[in-house]
Amino acid sequence: MAHPSPAAGTGPHRVARPRHYLMCRPGHFDVSYSINPWMHPEKPTATAVAVAQWENLRQIFLDLGHRVDELDPVPGLPDMVYTANGALLHDGTVVVARFRHAQRAAESDAYLRWFAARGYPVVHQADRINEGEGDFLLVGRRILAGFGFRTDPLAHHETQEILGLPVIGLHLTDPRYYHLDTALAVLDDDEIMYYPAAFSPGSQAVLRELYPDAVIATSADAEIFGLNAVSDGRHVVLPAAAVDLAAQLRKRGFVTIGVDMSELLKGGGGAKCCTLELRYSSTACASPPA
Ligand code: ARG
Repeated sequence: MAHPSPAAGTGPHRVARPRHYLMCRPGHFDVSYSINPWMHPEKPTATAVAVAQWENLRQIFLDLGHRVDELDPVPGLPDMVYTANGALLHDGTVVVARFRHAQRAAESDAYLRWFAARGYPVVHQADRINEGEGDFLLVGRRILAGFGFRTDPLAHHETQEILGLPVIGLHLTDPRYYHLDTALAVLDDDEIMYYPAAFSPGSQAVLRELYPDAVIATSADAEIFGLNAVSDGRHVVLPAAAVDLAAQLRKRGFVTIGVDMSELLKGGGGAKCCTLELRYSSTACASPPA
């Protein structure tokens, strides 16, 4: 599937940092249960369409020069395609998720095995319920952390202790935005975009305090998962239909790349949900884990 050519911005110069992502082909994709308001098991799904949309996303990352590793899909675990939920990494330390819902619980073992087999130096399975980069987003050297639907706020403390980075808790209050990455995206080390109405008034105030210049999404763009976006610091991959967000990003000098993730949206996820960033430093790992 071809993807639209990147639309370039005119703002300040942006520099991409090469990324390493973990993705899982939706070979067993289906909506056979409902654990978020987007999932309607009675509606048909087409695994082949999900695979085509996913392959397009993977190819975009490869064309941008990023590395993509794959986790093998497991029959009976249709949500495995959403690898963002499997872990959070910083400097080669891996905090593997503990899922809220029984339907996804067995995914943790697949991540534990994958990281252990590749020689990541420190792999923890968190004690508290947390859904990896679904609710934990690293912005520079600070972690923004969602709670309210999935991740236990006590997992915020646990993660802060393991990774030694400050964790800022943000209360999600609209069930449609049940993971932080459905309502907020990291653009750069100190830049984010988000949808204020997905957060409690106190958390909205925290976001205004920390990121007064953030890009603010319209409700129309938030509802099509415009914020479920992946940025490498220069290119931002987001739904093609999120036109207001794309225009704001281009004004700031980002290059926007529109994708169609409509089939994967039936499970409640978009581009970011399908992408886990593998972060390690040259000091923690002599070479990128194979
Ligand atoms: N069906 C999955 C769930 O409800 C979707 C997860 C989407 N992932 C994300 N990072 N928001 O758990």
